[in-house]
Amino acid sequence: MGVQCDSILARSRRCILRAVLCAAACGLAACDGPPDRTPKLDAADVARGLRLVSEKGCVACHAFPDVAWPRGALGPSLENFGAQGLIAGRLPNQPGVLMQFVRNAPALVPGTAMPAMPMSDQEARDVTAYLLQLKSR
Ligand code: HEC
Repeated sequence: MGVQCDSILARSRRCILRAVLCAAACGLAACDGPPDRTPKLDAADVARGLRLVSEKGCVACHAFPDVAWPRGALGPSLENFGAQGLIAGRLPNQPGVLMQFVRNAPALVPGTAMPAMPMSDQEARDVTAYLLQLKSR
């Protein structure tokens, strides 16, 4: 009996240790934050971002320096957007925020006229990289 209890105790101690280590590992991983908040823009493709703003229809509402037509005017011109401090006048113009905004503006700015534009992570990253290098001066 005594031997059996000891081994159960030893096993549960190992189990607790494993649980603690696992929690610590999860805690460390959480420090990195969700991928959207720290996007790796170095893996983004500016040229693909330019293609996407046409393919996804952004050009119907926005003017871009590299797109002669159409030059949509329902939304603001994005010709100097990379030099701008705020997105839609209220959010910091940072890669992580912009990546979320271009895909789902109404989630960040309730009531905005900018619609949600469904995109993959990589597409949002490419569009974001393209937008952030738009500087007319
Ligand atoms: C149906 C029209 C429409 C489409 C399509 C559209 N937008 Fe917009 N967008 C707007 C409007 C309107 C605003 C202004 C929103 C506000 O201030 O609340 C805006 C705002 C923005 C802003 C912030 C501009 C600023 O000066 O702060 C960015 C960046 C942007 N859009 C990028 C895009 C991208 C990229 C796409 C395509 C994936 C896209 N938009 C598609 C209408 C549109």
